[in-house]
Amino acid sequence: MKEDIELMLVKYSRIVDHFIFEHLSGTPESLYQAALHLVKAGGKRLRPAIAMLVARMLGGIEAESRALPLAAAIEVSHTFTLIHDDIMDKDDYRRGVPTVHKLWGESWAILAGDLLHAYAYKFIVSSVNYGLSKSEAHEAMSILTTAGIKVSRGQAYDLLFEKTLDVTIADYLDMVYHKTGAMIEASAKLGAVAARTESEVVELLGQYGSLLGVAFQIRDDYLGTFGDPERTGKPIYSDLRRGKKTLLVIYTLSKLKGEKREFLIKLLDPNTPKSLEDLKLGAMMLEESGAVDEALRLSRVYADRAKEILLSLRNVANESAREALLALTEYAITRDR
Ligand code: IPE
Ligand code: IPE
Ligand code: MG
Ligand code: MG
Repeated sequence: MKEDIELMLVKYSRIVDHFIFEHLSGTPESLYQAALHLVKAGGKRLRPAIAMLVARMLGGIEAESRALPLAAAIEVSHTFTLIHDDIMDKDDYRRGVPTVHKLWGESWAILAGDLLHAYAYKFIVSSVNYGLSKSEAHEAMSILTTAGIKVSRGQAYDLLFEKTLDVTIADYLDMVYHKTGAMIEASAKLGAVAARTESEVVELLGQYGSLLGVAFQIRDDYLGTFGDPERTGKPIYSDLRRGKKTLLVIYTLSKLKGEKREFLIKLLDPNTPKSLEDLKLGAMMLEESGAVDEALRLSRVYADRAKEILLSLRNVANESAREALLALTEYAITRDR
């Protein structure tokens, strides 16, 4: 099952990567190399797959081909956010390779991100050459723009929360909806626009993407502490080192008292030097508090609500695409990479 999904993602990544590499070249070479570094390193290509599958589900195979420039746009925009995120989070690895700022320095990483951000819009502008009308391209622009604003706001909350313990689960859910949910929401909406579906259905698909996005980020947080770095391609315990207020941390802090609570609070201070032993102990506390069970439960709740939206759609053009999206939703909360 998981293998089937991963194979399907590979299929979409071939199509989308071809588009990206064909349209993204220029000088100076080092700028384009830095911008394409993470694209070349891999990644799941989940967002473009969602855009294309939604398009096929709602409008069949022709809609899926119209969605291609939009799918490429969302992936390069996502890559832009990853490059800048790694600067903010001070992470050295991503997709199993050194991060862009580690290899080229922060100035070039900022530029590489800026370049990809601009190309995302360029790809959407070009969608009129792939069968979209001007007004559909305009709607796609609007969707990407809204997502971009939400991501910046979510990332700002993510950084602000590093500095405080006063973060509730509701605050967390709002923050992850913005930093991660919004781009997945946009992916699904872009697919619906390519399928020329009515605005109510575009909104419904947006809700599907938001719910999926939150479930996806809860799993991301789990993998950041309990995943295998060989599979995730990212450094382990980065969230604990930075004092990130993940669901795991918020829940555990609400359960702990006394010395253990003090230990965790100290560990979460980015200025505290931390040994691997300390971090392992911190991870163990997250598990023992029941936070891991709670996170897995909550990601399941969000994924199930996302699936219900897919199942509520009447008269879909392509049933197998709906099945694929249902499977992909399950994958988002059970994945190990
Ligand atoms: C990582 O996203 C950043 C988050 C929003 C959680 P992905 O897990 O989709 O990263 P790639 O694209 O597969 O590397
Ligand atoms: C990623 O959030 C969100 C964006 C890139 C906008 P994280 O910082 O939690 O994701 P990873 O774990 O570094 O991929
Ligand atoms: Mg981050
Ligand atoms: Mg990060």
